[in-house]
Amino acid sequence: MSADRYQLWGGCFEEEPSAVLRRLNDSLSVDSRLYREDIRGSQCWARELHRSGLLSHEDHQAIQEGLAKVEKEIEEELTKHGCLNDPEEDIHSAVERRLHAHAGDAALRLHTARSRNDQSATDTRLWMMASMQRLHSSLLELITVLVKRAQKEIDIIAPGYTHLQRAQPIRWSHFLLSHTWPLHDDVARLEEQRSRLSRSPLGSGAIAGCAFPIDRARLAKDLGFEDITPNSMFAVSSRDHIVEFLNWASLCSLHLSRLAEDLIIYSSQEFSFVRFSDQFSTGSSLMPQKRNPDGLELVRGAAGLMLGVSMAFSCVLKGLPSTYNKDLQSDKELLFRSYDKLQDCLKVVTGSIDTMEVNADKALAALEPGMLATDLAHALVRSGVPFRRAHHLVGAALRRAAALHLDLRTMPYCEYVAICPEFGTEEELRAVFSWEASVEQYTSAGGTSRAAVQKQLDDLAIWIKQNQTVSCTTKKKI
Ligand code: ARG
Repeated sequence: MSADRYQLWGGCFEEEPSAVLRRLNDSLSVDSRLYREDIRGSQCWARELHRSGLLSHEDHQAIQEGLAKVEKEIEEELTKHGCLNDPEEDIHSAVERRLHAHAGDAALRLHTARSRNDQSATDTRLWMMASMQRLHSSLLELITVLVKRAQKEIDIIAPGYTHLQRAQPIRWSHFLLSHTWPLHDDVARLEEQRSRLSRSPLGSGAIAGCAFPIDRARLAKDLGFEDITPNSMFAVSSRDHIVEFLNWASLCSLHLSRLAEDLIIYSSQEFSFVRFSDQFSTGSSLMPQKRNPDGLELVRGAAGLMLGVSMAFSCVLKGLPSTYNKDLQSDKELLFRSYDKLQDCLKVVTGSIDTMEVNADKALAALEPGMLATDLAHALVRSGVPFRRAHHLVGAALRRAAALHLDLRTMPYCEYVAICPEFGTEEELRAVFSWEASVEQYTSAGGTSRAAVQKQLDDLAIWIKQNQTVSCTTKKKI
């Protein structure tokens, strides 16, 4: 064992590892973030060793008391310095050395039948379970803000775009909810992962399992897992739950990025549908008039970074031989990076939307009569004209209006009748030119009429309530 640091291995080595290998190999700066999970795993492991007769009452007590002290001192050091300065290579070694300082030689028995392979896999899964809970809450907050706004702003009518060209009038709330449903699905996907993740690898050892009478199921329950991993080789090698999470996170960030992009466009002077609060805007060092949506631009960019992270980790795994290989150590660095970025993005999007102003007049002013061309075709269909013919007739009306330097609304009634008598009476024709009447036609489930939007709002309100209770009960379990 090295003189200057506590090493969990080295008995058969004559020389120290080179400084450069140590630099590449050491992971404490990353995995110190798992200290709570590592200590919790050790507390439960020690209890199990004691139950199996492998740890005396005194040693068990010394270890439990020692671990509590280690947890407290690490917490204090991290609060004060932001990092641990232990010379050890990883959090598992650092905790054991510190435990030895408090509990004496009892600490030397803690690692009985355990490997850092199952230990690190267990710590990471525990951390992920708690972190997914936090993401669940952040997503729920964002969804709640979107639903609250959508409920309040149901009267606002705005242009809806396809290909970024004016398409049809829609309720502004319908637009907000179109971004809410993908987030709702993200919550469902998060929950699905959790049950696969919630399996304890502890007791799998380095590869072959545990040679001592450890009750893995009881241990798993103590740690808050739903089940145990079914194969020790699979347990120490699988990082599928991390791949799944990183892919999930990049899909979720893609949803945020699309929402961010829409809002960035809507905040430009050309649109001015929304104005972000000072809290969520930034200025220019040169141009005093600027209010830039940097927060949402960073959210948009983060989607690319997160997709890169998820791709990077899959590339690390590709072609690895079975079970544990040190390549796997990069899992935590990428996992933390993705998690931190996503949490920040969720909070920035939530804050930006919660505090932005919506300019209903600007949204209304951006509507133009051409956006009612589809409704005009629908009016013809209602008087018996086949849709394909109606489409062409309205196309002809648009052409005629353009030739007269008019639009569909200002073109005289006689011009319509000249194109086709089925345009009906002047009164019937004029009734088409109402934004409110236009959106109110779309009563199909999931459409943009008031009733159809209200139905979405009601469904989401119920779902939010159910999920808040679910997240409270799960939180208690963890
Ligand atoms: N720091 C390592 C990791 O996170 C711990 C496992 C080390 N195991 C080993 N056999 N070297 O992957």
